[in-house]
Amino acid sequence: DIFAEAPADLVQPDRVAGRLYTDPAIFEQEMTKIFERTWVWVAHESELPKPGTFKSTYVGRQPVIVSRDRKGNLHTLLNRCRHRGASLCEKPRGQANGFTCPYHAWSYGLDGTLRGIPYPDGYEGVVDKKDLSLRKLRTESYGGMVFATFAGDIEPLADFLGDAKLWLDRFMKQGGGYPVKVLGRHQFRFRGNWKIQLENTTDGYHFPIVHRSWMASVDAETADMMSFMTDPAAITHALGNGHSVMQMVPEHSDLDADDGTEPLQARFDHVVAELSKTLDDGQVRKLVRAMHGTGFNLNLFPNVSMSAAFFRVLRPIAVDETLIEHIAIGPDGPPELDVVNRERMRIHEHFQGPFGFGTPDDAEGWDRVQRGAQAAPEMPILVNRGLGREKDDEHGWPTSHVTDEAGMRAAYSQWKQMMSDD
Ligand code: FES
Ligand code: FE
Repeated sequence: DIFAEAPADLVQPDRVAGRLYTDPAIFEQEMTKIFERTWVWVAHESELPKPGTFKSTYVGRQPVIVSRDRKGNLHTLLNRCRHRGASLCEKPRGQANGFTCPYHAWSYGLDGTLRGIPYPDGYEGVVDKKDLSLRKLRTESYGGMVFATFAGDIEPLADFLGDAKLWLDRFMKQGGGYPVKVLGRHQFRFRGNWKIQLENTTDGYHFPIVHRSWMASVDAETADMMSFMTDPAAITHALGNGHSVMQMVPEHSDLDADDGTEPLQARFDHVVAELSKTLDDGQVRKLVRAMHGTGFNLNLFPNVSMSAAFFRVLRPIAVDETLIEHIAIGPDGPPELDVVNRERMRIHEHFQGPFGFGTPDDAEGWDRVQRGAQAAPEMPILVNRGLGREKDDEHGWPTSHVTDEAGMRAAYSQWKQMMSDD
């Protein structure tokens, strides 16, 4: 029992134990008490556009297949054959009529039912196929995001998201009135605990320091947006269940709230010119404002974050190793939107991309935090910035300046609650 020696000491309102990043026993408990007990993001609906499309991914450390059956229903299936346990499918994405195990060819439908067993005579009176469907997880979607959970008894997804739903809705408005689709993705691993990344999304404090090289690489107009660091209106607030949002540019947060006076950034002039050939001014404005970014970072506990034109999903691999997937999105519509999606991919590459100016700098910071925690796991990690000025917002959620650590405190309070549950 990790809490045996000093129950509340590992997570306090102003600090967490360094051991949280280094202790394999804590990591094991997180996998069962958090990742198998909550809603975990598995797909965006645009990745499963037609009946028969599937992707293989993970819920915590468990491999799963997400599939769309012939009726259009989504399923999340444990990627483990019911015969002797082989993984069924290791293709990241594809289209199929079902899944056949490569070992002895037991075959399953897109909904996980066992369809066929080769040479079935040896199983007469021994096996009833009805009892040997693939293990199925609960699967629910909100706003195009598909989540799954091993827990049969937790709240519906919509309740788990709670006040974060408003922000997910705002994030999805980046299609500028069109549905949103996945444009591309990349993955990388870093040598650090998953919670180091979880802390990062609503950490406004690191931005002008770590991302100085990014700021030096953009135009003055974009760099000027960094004035949020000293803007008292820029706030981070908790949203319940460990979720939080950092509103850097509050007036940009709702892309539908537009009085027509906000100037469009000159760096998108070529997009405006191209779109104006076929779309009306209102449509052009919507699409280009969406390219400016949403003005907020949303953190969904335990492992998804959203910001501007991308979202990020983290997957814990080991106590000191985490996989990050960055997924770029854009509007799904007529070919004249290609110019928008090309530009969005360039923005994605510029900051998030493997050769971008943003993520490599973040990752360097995360590696260093892990090394520091390993050097002295008994020393605390401080999450107390802004404690003295934290207030409740109109919904009663803890709120503080955008440079404060209110989002981390919200995540750790959820962590503590889930880890204390029996
Ligand atoms: Fe899958 Fe034997 S392990 S058919
Ligand atoms: Fe960063």
